[in-house]
Amino acid sequence: MAANKITDKVYSVGVQNPDLRVFDIVMATRYGTSYNSYIVKGEEIALIEASHADFGGFYEANIREVTDPAKIKYIILNHTEPDHSGALADLIRLCPDATVLATAVALNYLKNIVNAPFKSRPVKDGEVLDLGGVTLNFTVSPLLHWPDSMFTYCPEEKVLFSCDVFGSHYSSEKVLDKDVENVEGYREAFKGYYDAIFGPFKPFVVAGMAKIAKYPFEIVCPSHGPVLTKDGQLPYVLEKYREWSKTVKNAVKKIPVFYCSAYGCTAKLAEAIAEGVNEVIPDADCKTYNIIENDMAAMRAEINACDACAIGSPTLNSDAVPPVWDLLAGVDAINSRKKPVAVFGSYGWSGEAVPNLIARVSGLKMAVVGEGLKVCFVPTADDLNAAKEYGRQLASAIK
Ligand SMILES: Cc1cc2nc3c(=O)[nH]c(=O)nc-3n(C[C@H](O)[C@H](O)[C@H](O)COP(=O)(O)O)c2cc1C
Ligand SMILES: [Fe+2]
Ligand SMILES: [Fe+2]
Repeated sequence: MAANKITDKVYSVGVQNPDLRVFDIVMATRYGTSYNSYIVKGEEIALIEASHADFGGFYEANIREVTDPAKIKYIILNHTEPDHSGALADLIRLCPDATVLATAVALNYLKNIVNAPFKSRPVKDGEVLDLGGVTLNFTVSPLLHWPDSMFTYCPEEKVLFSCDVFGSHYSSEKVLDKDVENVEGYREAFKGYYDAIFGPFKPFVVAGMAKIAKYPFEIVCPSHGPVLTKDGQLPYVLEKYREWSKTVKNAVKKIPVFYCSAYGCTAKLAEAIAEGVNEVIPDADCKTYNIIENDMAAMRAEINACDACAIGSPTLNSDAVPPVWDLLAGVDAINSRKKPVAVFGSYGWSGEAVPNLIARVSGLKMAVVGEGLKVCFVPTADDLNAAKEYGRQLASAIK
């Protein structure tokens, strides 16, 4: 690991973590990651992003290649997730003259992350910091991907410090995109990063990109993965962010019915619900999915892309069955708010599945249709009519 010069006034001093295979509990990181950090040198010196707590020694050595840390005047944090703020407590000791600059929201979070006093000043949207010979412009852009986020732009060097935006979990000692040997691997990591981190925040990505459109940046310094340049991956990255962040409206209404069924009772309810849906919206895309016979990733994509859905489980041992919980674990909570959902299931004596599933989808802030549908053992003709009516209610909720 070493410091790298990006432009005459911008240096990369972050650390590589090539062996990481899981990030933030759930993200697979096949190509490792990096916790990028940058120094901007004017008459005064600023450090942008503070790296992960676990790599202190390497990080300090990289900083020392560029400057004596005691000379750092500002530590700028575009976002305070601990992969970028974890090293802050150590940095504050290393840079006694430094003032931490971040959004007001970010400084509020840092109080409970650092748990020690430090010098700080909130920055406002549009504020400019003059380092002497080089300036930094701050653009507050919340929910990319926390409420605290902002961009920092250096007009003299045409460099945008974008934090997690445009980042990738891709570790490479060669910091510039043009030196990345496995471009396919990089692009796979870049897409995985976008889907996991920014997929739930598409409208905020669009808003953020509109805010930075006024800056003629030629280099992007993200907080993970290679530095992006106009002759390297930057045009691809910008084009993909625009493409992936568009909100797609389903041409025909998508109302999938997911269920599990040990003896076919809940399955019968599922078919009747689908019939009811199609009576109200004849051209609705209303497939029934027996959860254990279908691909979980595909069903998770389907439930997140649907306009409304139905979820059914029999009660086994006082609860809904694990595959149904597994499917619900893939629901994108941020974008599923207010989405209508019908909950149904057959039971024998206690019938906890439906109320337990209702509690879960209510916790996701989805809109439960009616009070759920519970049927004791094998559905009668009347039960199937009630299920059809429940399907009609579900379809009517989005009509
Ligand atoms: C292993 C097993 C455990 C069960 N445990 C419960 C239970 O705790 N409470 C309940 O109300 N019904 C329980 N039942 C009964 C089922 O909910 C009932 O048979 C239901 O009709 C099954 O619907 P399905 O055909 O859609 O699987 C259990 C059934 C099985 C096979
Ligand atoms: Fe983050
Ligand atoms: Fe990050």
